[in-house]
Amino acid sequence: MSRVSVDLHGKVAFITGGGSGIGRSLALQMALDGAAVTVTDLDEARAIAVAGEIEAAGGQALGLRLDVRDAEAAGEAVAAALARFGQIDFLFANAGVLGPAEYLDITPADWDLSLDVNIKGVVHTCRAVVPHMMERRQGRILITASYNGVRAGSHVIPYRVTKAATIMYARCLALVLAPYGVTVNALCPGVTLTPMQVSYAEQTAAQRGISTDAYLEERLVGIPMHEFTGLADITGLAEFLVSDSARLITGQAIAPDGGVMTSS
Ligand SMILES: NC(=O)c1ccc[n+]([C@@H]2O[C@H](COP(=O)([O-])OP(=O)(O)OC[C@H]3O[C@@H](n4cnc5c(N)ncnc54)[C@H](O)[C@@H]3O)[C@@H](O)[C@H]2O)c1
Repeated sequence: MSRVSVDLHGKVAFITGGGSGIGRSLALQMALDGAAVTVTDLDEARAIAVAGEIEAAGGQALGLRLDVRDAEAAGEAVAAALARFGQIDFLFANAGVLGPAEYLDITPADWDLSLDVNIKGVVHTCRAVVPHMMERRQGRILITASYNGVRAGSHVIPYRVTKAATIMYARCLALVLAPYGVTVNALCPGVTLTPMQVSYAEQTAAQRGISTDAYLEERLVGIPMHEFTGLADITGLAEFLVSDSARLITGQAIAPDGGVMTSS
């Protein structure tokens, strides 16, 4: 199978939620393509472990704890990344939380968590990096949203609502940054079997008294192309969006999801 190939030597990426799943894959792919990477995560040990993987493979990386709910901490992490690498070319505002599935189980604290991490966390992270990108008049921002930000449903409502907000935020920020040559897009992965998705599948299957495999089979039926999204489907799209070929693509919500978002 052919793949997009980009040379990112001399570029620098900054990633939130980079310690696991999609963020970890984005960090490793950017590094494989030659970029230096600041890997941040709420879980410091995971961020440091991913940075260690990159360094062990001969790349350059910095692993830091960053709770994206804390705007001041976002500024400090960006300052640390700039002190180490001198620039940030690509921002992946990727950290996110899923929350309870059932409407009656959702507490005010669950709403706060989804709002604080999924939308305000994205806002804080972007705000910390944007002045630097404006000054350099270059940069790419990729916000990890979700097909659930477009698709209505009776489950995971705080997740859907906050992911919808990130898509609108990406569109608005794209207009702020267009005069500076900086692009902003929302990545909308389909169902991807990361730790977040697997634990949701296990919990839901247990509640319904079916096996996780049976539950995942049901999910597959709902995907028009009958395939889960692979991590390489997301990293391949990200490689394209940070490449020169994508310089005029901005304000878009792009879904490597086998048609789920379109089928809503
Ligand atoms: N897995 C899917 O099917 C799927 C589909 C669409 C979108 N997404 C989105 O992709 C992104 C990554 O999710 P994933 O599937 O890789 O999940 P994951 O649970 O494997 O990784 C999420 C990471 O975010 C970190 N995190 C959580 N709260 C944080 C905070 N306050 N500050 C900083 N980091 C924090 C976690 O520690 C974890 O390392 C999320 O925004 C998620 O909503 C996932």
